[in-house]
Amino acid sequence: MQIKKLRRASSRRSFLRAGLAAPAVMSAAVLGDPLPSKAFDRSGITHGDINILRFLAALEILETDLWQQYNELGGIPDSEVPGGSVSKPFQDILVNVLDMDMPQYIHDNTEDEISHFRFINRYLLSKGAKPVSLERFRGLNGSTATGAQKIKRLTNLMELTFDTSWWTRYRSRTRNPDFGDTFPAAIPGLLKGKFPAIPRSDADLNPPDHLKAIAFTAAFHFGTIEQGGSSLYPSLAQRVSNVEVLRILLSIGPTETMHFQTWQDKAGNFTPVTDPTNGLTFPDLNNGPFPPGFGVEDFQTNLIMPEPTVFLSPQLPVCSIIRPTETQGAATAAFNGLRRSGLFNGQSDAFFAEMNELAALADLAQREI
Ligand SMILES: [Fe+2]
Ligand SMILES: [Fe+2]
Repeated sequence: MQIKKLRRASSRRSFLRAGLAAPAVMSAAVLGDPLPSKAFDRSGITHGDINILRFLAALEILETDLWQQYNELGGIPDSEVPGGSVSKPFQDILVNVLDMDMPQYIHDNTEDEISHFRFINRYLLSKGAKPVSLERFRGLNGSTATGAQKIKRLTNLMELTFDTSWWTRYRSRTRNPDFGDTFPAAIPGLLKGKFPAIPRSDADLNPPDHLKAIAFTAAFHFGTIEQGGSSLYPSLAQRVSNVEVLRILLSIGPTETMHFQTWQDKAGNFTPVTDPTNGLTFPDLNNGPFPPGFGVEDFQTNLIMPEPTVFLSPQLPVCSIIRPTETQGAATAAFNGLRRSGLFNGQSDAFFAEMNELAALADLAQREI
């Protein structure tokens, strides 16, 4: 029995490693393996619950790694979030242009992420499940700017290409990504190149508009990361079985949304600028020009609360909601989105294999009542 179980698990793993995993269509039945929905222990936690928590632990470790880099250069290194000694010119732009509380908020967001991964890992351990460690993948070089720790990283904040369409997605009153709708990016230039969100070295501290563009890239990246967490937790919660595990997802998820709301507000304080070194432009979002089919309210910088929009059915009244919350394939989609953004540029094949497997297993989880 034990041998049979092991063989099943290992054949599933090699199937996933081969890159054949397609969580949207692959069911436990196809794999001949009931593991994802089977009870993990007597408390009613399922293997699916464990797999969801393990994927979330991995993502929280990655979030912690990127937020740690932001805190070292623009936040408040202290005993709660140790490491680094701040890049004063970088932090000055965050403070003087975006908000005087930026360092405090960066610090607190970082501390929250540390608590998220530590809690989930410790909870897994308390249930007899394996916690997640990505330490063997910590091989990326980080910033050499004054203020940054000279240590190896899991994530790369120096070659980002990311999608800021969440900005218009949350301002639209008629569209919802769960209905297949698409949205224009607030800062289209961030999709066309590789941009640093932190000074890569002290050479990035000048000219002033270059450093300003780096600080604004960071500000929009903060919102990009946290809106992802805002969607991921409710998306995965729909396939959790155990009520206590559900409580964990329902309690952490909204803190991601508190972060998102804050960053959306702060990013909106940017001033239009073009980076003279690479042409990256932060346009005037309040005065346009706007893309066809979209208007001033889809870009307005002080519309930071979700506009009500279509939800579940066009027959129902519009509703102010987190979007998207489609559960099918949500873990894989979240990781692929981060991968496309360049956040893991330079990471090993083994890292991607590990993360793809964690995501695919989380996406196999089904709600068992
Ligand atoms: Fe988090
Ligand atoms: Fe987060």
